[in-house]
Amino acid sequence: MAARITGVGKYLPQRVLSNADLERMVDTSDQWIVDRTGIRERRIADDGESTSSLGAEAGRMALETAGLDANDIDLVICATLSPDGMFPASASLIQDALGAKRAAAFDINAACTGYVAALATGTQFINAGVYKRVLVVGAEVTSRIIDWTDRGTCVLFGDGAGAVVLEQAERGGLQSIVMKSDGAGAKLLYARGPASARSLAETEGYCIVMDGREVFRFAVRAMEESSREAISQAGLKIEDVAYVVPHQANQRIMSAVAKNLGLPIERMVSNVEKYGNTSSASIPIALCEAWEDGRLQDGDNLVVVAFGGGLAWGAGVIEWTGLGQR
Ligand code: UT7
Repeated sequence: MAARITGVGKYLPQRVLSNADLERMVDTSDQWIVDRTGIRERRIADDGESTSSLGAEAGRMALETAGLDANDIDLVICATLSPDGMFPASASLIQDALGAKRAAAFDINAACTGYVAALATGTQFINAGVYKRVLVVGAEVTSRIIDWTDRGTCVLFGDGAGAVVLEQAERGGLQSIVMKSDGAGAKLLYARGPASARSLAETEGYCIVMDGREVFRFAVRAMEESSREAISQAGLKIEDVAYVVPHQANQRIMSAVAKNLGLPIERMVSNVEKYGNTSSASIPIALCEAWEDGRLQDGDNLVVVAFGGGLAWGAGVIEWTGLGQR
């Protein structure tokens, strides 16, 4: 049994925050940001928006492209590191917003690797024969956990959501999965949350803290190694891969990984220029855009690969089979 992708969706907030806007907020420059990261702008959610509202919009598009009704969905999974609240799960709020009344719902937090973990989890439920249709959302409002005075992090992140529908099928979907964790690196990239405070007064200033250089080094190594492992586990070689759809954190990281893998750079899907790092949402947004611009063909082998806080990292090979019900 396979869990193929039959629908894709994305949603980006309207508000654009450009590098020029950031120049007015912190001591930085458009040139530094573009040279070091490749990012030119990112989207920021309005006050009325939330991780679950972004996620619901992306989920709605994924259902539409799959040709399904919300009631067809058995399970909603939301990967996020910036949930609406500590509980209930943002997935429950997405389930309600979509009217997916039959569905179970829960969140997954593996930081920026969350989408790989969520895809793997949704696939397991289908492969085990427990569910037939799973909506896998990645949604983030990272702008709410950014220290807007810290130039080392505030130029990197953005808000957005992406989603896919997984359906039981004969072929397609995840062919291999590699997931890794090294909790000893937790201090390199984290955001504390209210549950670690001893009093309400202590909950101020719980923002993303990062050792950029160390995370950069780790990212290049982790993405290359886990991609290689996932490709070989699927019985494939690099030459068999049509596209790598990586977590969008930094163009320099993606370029270094492509070079190390011996992958032509045009086969590394990148949209970091437009949205910055949208954490768990970055892979499904990039996948959706690769489908929208007609790049993906039936039978293509795609690699999804991510890294982030945990430290956690992972990769998987997807056999693309086109959208819609068959
Ligand atoms: O989802 C995972 C999320 N995390 C990541 O992907 C982060 C991975 N790391 C990176 O992407 C890069 O390390 C950064 C983009 C964060 C930084 O780039 P870098 O080339 O590693 O720069 P650096 O940290 O080595 O800093 C170089 C200089 C420093 O100044 P000095 O010490 O050389 O005088 C920084 O203070 O650049 C300075 N700097 C900035 N200058 C202008 C740091 N941030 C900025 C900034 N604007 N925004």
